[in-house]
Amino acid sequence: IVDVKGGPDEGMDRLGQALAIRGWVRTCRVQSSVTFIELNDGSCLSNLQCVMNIDAEGYDQVESGAVTTGASVLVEGIVVSSQGSKQKVELKVARLVTIGKSDPLTYPIQKKRATREFLRTIAHLRPRTNTFGAVTRVRNTLAYATHKFFQENGFVWISSPIITASDCEGAGEQFCVTTLIPNTREGTDCLVNTIPTSKDGKIDWSQDFFGKPAFLTVSGQLNAETYASALCDVYTFGPTFRAENSNTSRHLAEFWMIEPELAFADLNDDMACATAYLQYVVKYILENCKEDMDFFNTWIEKGIINRLNDVVEKDFVQLTYSDAVELLLGAKKKFEFPVKWGLDLQSEHERYITEVAFAGRPVIIRDYPKEIKAFYMRQNDDGKTVAAMDLLVPRVGELIGGSQREERLEYLGSRLEELNLNKDSYWWYLDLRRFGSVPHAGFGLGFERLVQFATGIENIRDAIPFPRAPGSADF
Ligand code: 4AD
Ligand code: MG
Repeated sequence: IVDVKGGPDEGMDRLGQALAIRGWVRTCRVQSSVTFIELNDGSCLSNLQCVMNIDAEGYDQVESGAVTTGASVLVEGIVVSSQGSKQKVELKVARLVTIGKSDPLTYPIQKKRATREFLRTIAHLRPRTNTFGAVTRVRNTLAYATHKFFQENGFVWISSPIITASDCEGAGEQFCVTTLIPNTREGTDCLVNTIPTSKDGKIDWSQDFFGKPAFLTVSGQLNAETYASALCDVYTFGPTFRAENSNTSRHLAEFWMIEPELAFADLNDDMACATAYLQYVVKYILENCKEDMDFFNTWIEKGIINRLNDVVEKDFVQLTYSDAVELLLGAKKKFEFPVKWGLDLQSEHERYITEVAFAGRPVIIRDYPKEIKAFYMRQNDDGKTVAAMDLLVPRVGELIGGSQREERLEYLGSRLEELNLNKDSYWWYLDLRRFGSVPHAGFGLGFERLVQFATGIENIRDAIPFPRAPGSADF
């Protein structure tokens, strides 16, 4: 399959070549002497215009009405320069073969632009639209650039487990793993899996992961820390799960997280890494996904390219949590959640900081009150705050959450006790502080939020092929 129009010279470098292309028909316009077929194979945003005369092989399929929107076809022909104004080249068709027909009356993707809500109900077909094709290609390039950035900087990629016994964030937002029991229904040979129940009909949770409680991971951080304590800089990139029942445009129950962990590093190193990473991947898509980025700039978020250029070129704002609270207290805007030192920042506060106070620039807030942050964060000398940082961006809010980790055994032990967490279950995590402990730091970036930020797509459910959120686990 050849990407004819996405090339550096919009296909002019292929003039005169004979090509065979397979793809899906976007439109088919039949005129008396010539037929125009717009073909797309997903390799780029543009369609290839295929021009077919009545003497071409397979024209009978056009006549019989088989070449309709959504049908899959093979076309063979020669690349010629186009007389139309929309494209430089087109394919002069010598032969067409219909591979899979598509009933134009029932094909769910019609020419009229469909709403994103509707497209979510046909998640199996939405990749055939311009928007989802573009989002998917940019998501792919962001993933590629992520590995490229970390590999070029000497990080080792670690696969962290999906099934785990520990709750990294300590927020209790975990999905539980359970085992279905195969039953033979009386009178049939059919095997039916059932959720184990006790005598009173309640779900029997003791039947979980081979007799032990287990959950879907909320973060690979603790596992990454173990490898950073041996291989130095490492990163994870995998699915994570949160059982938060929130119906927002920024939350998913299943999302991909990138979690670098840096050994012999402090919070400043962590912030520098987060900044360099974000600038690298944003620059990479601006340079390598030009056609798709132009599409987002025109159709999804006007001016996004300029804003992303600023991300690459300008320094990020840095301020402490205490300064952020001062700034919010001084704001003219009335917030739904009143601001007070010690309270967690809500999305309205985060948006005010990045969108109003700092006019669209990424902002890193550091040194949060320890009460609102996780147990593993390193306590600052003031005894009240921890070496945490959140990176906020306009519209999306928190894109990155990170911290320097508490590497001192006695501090970590007393923090676990203060929070009533079971020290025994963290024995292996505490071991890292017993044997050759080092200052280390890391962060987690929600990959779908990055896709949202980079494409301008409003809802996080449109930043992942098959979103998992309350009410959506079909497909
Ligand atoms: O701030 P969080 O909860 O931090 C951690 O999990 C740390 N263990 C990370 C680390 O230091 N290694 O989550 C990190 C990021 C957030 O900033 C956000 O981008 C994303 O993960 N995130 C979500 N994305 C989509 N849906 C959700 N429900 C999310 N929850 C967090
Ligand atoms: Mg966070």
